[in-house]
Amino acid sequence: MSAPATFRLPTLRAGARGRILSGMRPTGRLHLGNWVGALKNWVELQDAWENFHMVADWHALTTATDRTEEIQSNTYEMVLDWLAAGIDPKKSPMFVQSHVKEHAELHLLFSMLVTKARLERNPTLKDQVRDLGMEDATISYGHLGYACLQAADILLYRANAVPVGEDQVPHIEITREIARRFNHLYAAEDPVFPEPEPLLTAFPRLRGLDGGRMSKSVGNTILLADTPEEIFAKVRTAYTDPTKIRKNDPGHPEGCVVWEYHRLFNPGGYQTVAELCRAGQLGCVDDKKHLTQIMVDALAPIRARREELAREPDYVWDVLREGAVRARAEAVATMERVRAAMHLVDPKGGGN
Ligand code: TRP
Repeated sequence: MSAPATFRLPTLRAGARGRILSGMRPTGRLHLGNWVGALKNWVELQDAWENFHMVADWHALTTATDRTEEIQSNTYEMVLDWLAAGIDPKKSPMFVQSHVKEHAELHLLFSMLVTKARLERNPTLKDQVRDLGMEDATISYGHLGYACLQAADILLYRANAVPVGEDQVPHIEITREIARRFNHLYAAEDPVFPEPEPLLTAFPRLRGLDGGRMSKSVGNTILLADTPEEIFAKVRTAYTDPTKIRKNDPGHPEGCVVWEYHRLFNPGGYQTVAELCRAGQLGCVDDKKHLTQIMVDALAPIRARREELAREPDYVWDVLREGAVRARAEAVATMERVRAAMHLVDPKGGGN
């Protein structure tokens, strides 16, 4: 793979090891965009930071309210990809949001600290509502509170940083506002929450093979679990320079999706590819075969590990159960501080 992802890392107290909470909605098998945009970075960060990886199954309910039967298998397939990509569950606990009930309690408390108008102004939510063709009046109470639940996910672990794509930055901003408001109202002397920062990747978004936005539902993605044959079949359909019709026509690599993938997966060779293409010495079909081979080689270790792990179907669930135990210990400790700060305690110590 090409240039390592670079982040603007938040400054931490001397000696403190930063904590990261990352989350993904359970979308099933992951694609190259997920790998380049998220997984690769998670793997790189796992030694220097303490990482918690969460499957956001409650968040999935906001748009899959009538498709809950998919959540379990989507969780399984996605976590299998996390493991296959090299996240070590011993270092970095992985867990399912709905298995740690404290997320719901903190979400409720936070829902008092953010206004309806603030949530309605969230540009990520507005885009989603527009993409789904929804009317404002059909949005559910829970969907409106999407960012509030995300704030609870992050702050329950008192995370300092959250690796996200551009589209999630407004949610981190709302998280920071809620943290500030909570500390100001209830914990001015001894702040409970940090104000977490987004960790953005240096990569621009990887386009789909058709040149459009990469999305599994459009079918323009390469999945980490794809076989070499499936990868070639997909790359063969990829969008290239429309003015390059015959093999010997000079081409324009800029704007060509195949070349974009070369730049990412073929750091030592993409310039040569561009020269040959411009000179009319490289046909698109040969180039697509070449790119396929490079991607198959890059994904081979992931595919091999995936197949091996899938032989033991209980493994993923064991990892998630163990991860929930570790996550819950943190969550319980945070909630004790939260309830105490808000005076939601029984003076004799019972109740909780
Ligand atoms: N909203 C995130 C997404 O769609 C998923 C998510 C939920 C998340 N909770 C989170 C991401 C907490 C980071 C931290 O991609």
